[in-house]
Amino acid sequence: MNPEQEPVAPLSWDETLESLRRVAAAFEIGDAAAAEAYRLRFLSKKGEVTRLFEAFRALSGPEKKSVGQALNALRTEVEERWKEASAGTAQAAAASGATAPAAAPQLPAPVWGRGSRHPLSLTRRLMLDFFGELGFRWSEGPEIVDDWHNFGALHFEADHPARDMQDTFFVNLDPVYLLRTHTSSVQVKEMMKGLLPLRTVSPGRVYRNETVSARSHMQFHQVEGLYIDRDVSFADLKKVLYDFAIHLFGPDVQIRFRPSYFPFTEPSAEMDVTCFLCSGQGCNVCKHSGWVEILGCGMVDPQVLENCGIDSEVYSGYAFGIGIERLTMLRHRIPDIRLFYENDVRFVKQFGV
Ligand code: DAH
Repeated sequence: MNPEQEPVAPLSWDETLESLRRVAAAFEIGDAAAAEAYRLRFLSKKGEVTRLFEAFRALSGPEKKSVGQALNALRTEVEERWKEASAGTAQAAAASGATAPAAAPQLPAPVWGRGSRHPLSLTRRLMLDFFGELGFRWSEGPEIVDDWHNFGALHFEADHPARDMQDTFFVNLDPVYLLRTHTSSVQVKEMMKGLLPLRTVSPGRVYRNETVSARSHMQFHQVEGLYIDRDVSFADLKKVLYDFAIHLFGPDVQIRFRPSYFPFTEPSAEMDVTCFLCSGQGCNVCKHSGWVEILGCGMVDPQVLENCGIDSEVYSGYAFGIGIERLTMLRHRIPDIRLFYENDVRFVKQFGV
């Protein structure tokens, strides 16, 4: 007769519990997988400890009480060991109770390609973050404006070349409506609101009737800055723009102001920074001068303040205009402005998110 079929005396409850206790204690739990195997064998719905509870339910009388206590103690012991062994493993998180099912196998989530921001948006954000921290508020204006907002209020004389058909896209001639040639038109709108002091930056797209080439385009973007208050000086303007240059090009950058002309500022200047490519030694980018121009600026002409209803005896202010494309091309050494508008993802994805 096969020895396994020999009748054997059933174990007492004490013996059964003791034997299970030993088997569980001898079970090696080296890693998360072994912890899960341990849980399945002893504590899951069909586990050995759980099954003893089913048998226990059939008991009655005084035995029920003592076996119940011993069985509870065994379960606690086995559970404690499992919790300890699997603490900190992913398995513990997935199967947090003795009766919880094993983690369901699932398909991995699809991996979508991650998008990235356009380099012009990144530069704009960098600029506006800086001015925003100084208390400049964001403002915007329409791209189709009348002659007054683009030219008249800004003190462009009637025969100023910038009004010429060559530069401006006219939408309507009588009355005149045009595609704004600069974001200085937003200055006018903001000043005419009469809310002073005024500290604002206005990003936006502008249009010029120019031949498209590697260096210029008929549409591009600017950020206009304007600060109007009592006692604003050119020194205030210099300090802000110097800090701005450091923000963009790092602490070693140097700046210089060259006298210039804009109808709406007096005095007017253009600001150069030391060429970041050759550190001022002279190269192709800076045309061997060691400097590159990054913006135009000046003190708002008192006549412009008056045109917009601001008392120029009491208030003064500064303004600046910065080309976003130009700055981005300088920062990233981009050789052709047309790359910005072709939306070739291989180009656009290179600059961050
Ligand atoms: N509007 C000028 C342009 O498009 C840029 C500019 C220069 C803006 C000087 C200003 C300024 O506010 O003060 O070329």
